[in-house]
Amino acid sequence: MKTEKIGIVGSGLIGRAWSMLFTSAGYQVMLYDILPDQLSAALEYIDIELHRLEEHGLLRGHLTAEQQFKCLRTTSDLKELSRKAIFIQECIPERIEWKRSLYQQLDDILEEQTIVSSSTSTFMPSLFTEGLRHCHNMLVSHPLNPPYYIPLVEIVPAPWTSPQAVEFTRQLMLEIQQKPVTLKREVLGFATNRIQYAIINEIWHLVDKDILTVRDIDTVMNEGLGLRYAFLGPMETAHLNAEGIRDYIQRFGGEIHKVSETYDAIPKMEPGPTLDKIAEQCEEMVPRDMLAARRKERDAFLTKLSALKKEFEK
Ligand code: NAI
Repeated sequence: MKTEKIGIVGSGLIGRAWSMLFTSAGYQVMLYDILPDQLSAALEYIDIELHRLEEHGLLRGHLTAEQQFKCLRTTSDLKELSRKAIFIQECIPERIEWKRSLYQQLDDILEEQTIVSSSTSTFMPSLFTEGLRHCHNMLVSHPLNPPYYIPLVEIVPAPWTSPQAVEFTRQLMLEIQQKPVTLKREVLGFATNRIQYAIINEIWHLVDKDILTVRDIDTVMNEGLGLRYAFLGPMETAHLNAEGIRDYIQRFGGEIHKVSETYDAIPKMEPGPTLDKIAEQCEEMVPRDMLAARRKERDAFLTKLSALKKEFEK
């Protein structure tokens, strides 16, 4: 077990997952929330979850569930949370005015060594750290849900984040067995959502024009492209699908351009007939009262997949 302290602000879905990731590496984790009930619910959830993972042989790290749980404390005092913390992972709801107010409060009490990183999915770090005294120690480390099973973390610095804070965060993510990628500078949507939204835009049009159903599109991904992507990214795929990437572009670059020229304009995603069609087909695939059960299946699958990947990468 380690003696260093990590603070988690916000004990909802993502705060709980980060807590488990940091305790899996033996860090002393302190959870803070404005709602005391959320803190006790988080402790109860994490206790059950750690033991469930242990029972199924899926617990991360070398410590037992009990040892990991013992690394966890809670507080309702932000000052206590930040005292002697080396790192704080912020996980409060996605409301910019709430984030700004929290970072302002933290700025008044932070110690010099503490790095604060946000889990935000959508806000560039400059939006809520500009002008703060400790802005050089503030950035984003954006996980994908569920973080315990999907290891990617996007590290996004603000223009004023120090290279040391970025590197510290990257090393910490590696230490807890996550897979960080570091953006050289902030950009709206970071990397994952920029790519994901390009896919969703095209799907919107394909369903709108009755070319494919939602289920067929998901099959294109989970029985086709996605199988490759769990192992190779699109660029390595291209590199291997010809005699190297130059050959690939020479052979297929013209075709890619020709197809791309037929893409429609970026759709406005709003209520209307296209959304009705998409929603109806999604709900046929997974009725709304089955969402929780399907999430469980997803987690079980991702766990097995990540174990398989680890074995393969040995
Ligand atoms: P959540 O709603 O499950 O949990 C938020 C928690 O923060 C609640 O326990 C709430 O009581 C607490 N809270 C609210 N204001 C607070 C404050 N000022 N100080 C301390 N605690 C406060 O939210 P969730 O889903 O965990 O999201 C947290 C962050 O993680 C958001 O920025 C979100 O964009 C990001 N994120 C969420 C993902 C998801 O799939 N849910 C995926 C990746 C990132």
